[in-house]
Amino acid sequence: MPKNVGWIGLGNMGSLMAKNLADANFNIKVWNRTLQKAKDSGLPYTNTLEGLVLEQDIIITMLSDAEAVEEIYNRILELKIEDKIFIDMTTVKPDTAKRLAEKLLKKGAHFLEAPVLGSVPLAEKGMLTILVSGDENIFKELQGLFSVLGKEIFYLGDYGIASSLKLINNSVLATFMGALSEAIIIGQKLGIDKQTVIKILENGAGKSAVLESKKEKLLNEDYSTHFSTKLLVKDLRYFSEILDKNCLFSPYFSISNDMYKSTNSNGYSDNDFCSILEILKKFNGLN
Ligand SMILES: NC(=O)c1ccc[n+]([C@@H]2O[C@H](COP(=O)([O-])OP(=O)(O)OC[C@H]3O[C@@H](n4cnc5c(N)ncnc54)[C@H](OP(=O)(O)O)[C@@H]3O)[C@@H](O)[C@H]2O)c1
Repeated sequence: MPKNVGWIGLGNMGSLMAKNLADANFNIKVWNRTLQKAKDSGLPYTNTLEGLVLEQDIIITMLSDAEAVEEIYNRILELKIEDKIFIDMTTVKPDTAKRLAEKLLKKGAHFLEAPVLGSVPLAEKGMLTILVSGDENIFKELQGLFSVLGKEIFYLGDYGIASSLKLINNSVLATFMGALSEAIIIGQKLGIDKQTVIKILENGAGKSAVLESKKEKLLNEDYSTHFSTKLLVKDLRYFSEILDKNCLFSPYFSISNDMYKSTNSNGYSDNDFCSILEILKKFNGLN
């Protein structure tokens, strides 16, 4: 397996994932649109995106959304990229991944679509869950790389499947976080302290990876960003498009989607998505 990796996108997730590859002795170089983040990362960096792509064999993108991915790959597609391997780990629409695959393969490059489940704490520990679609032989060749970033790695077949499953997962994430926040507020309105409500939920019906990872943040009303509301709203928008396109009925999702649109437009777009708690506090007159 080539150990020569170019990393594009040093946000909350990408910065930690790139560092894990460097710590595992991958020969990594990074590039970020805001170049200062690349300089501050302590990792070898290039001044230009084009320089990075031409120098490295495996290129990984971890960007905010489908629009950013399209913009960056339009620049990459102008370059000589034959035989290079591209992995996009951004959460995008299934159609974005399929379109990208078609264009990259036509240029003689390889492509894997590999969105991730899990947030900053798991990214830091290299314990993400990674969903991979694309060429199975390339996937097998890169298992060593994926195992540095993730603990559970699923190969899922054709392009589009990994992204569909990622969006399905995040629709559950939104509904679950809404239900947990609602339960905490109702408990408080009934005069039960937040800590007790959370303790009972985590031993009862609320026991979940979502509560496990967010209980301290919910308890302390700490909305510092691991996964921003605006990125979750982006995922819910992509999921909504899939539902509309396929005429699917998803009532729980519809409420979560509206609640998150409201969280986003009420000043919490850059905060962690657990800030939905504040919206539910307002609805229930809890200040
Ligand atoms: N955070 C999480 O917990 C989490 C968990 C699972 C999956 N995800 C998904 O993983 C992806 C990254 O998430 P994140 O939280 O790391 O995002 P983030 O902190 O907002 O970082 C976004 C990155 O994308 C870059 N970017 C945005 N627009 C760009 C453009 N037009 N051209 C070039 N670069 C651009 C940003 O560059 P600048 O620094 O220049 O702004 C930054 O490096 C998202 O798709 C998200 O949905 C996130």
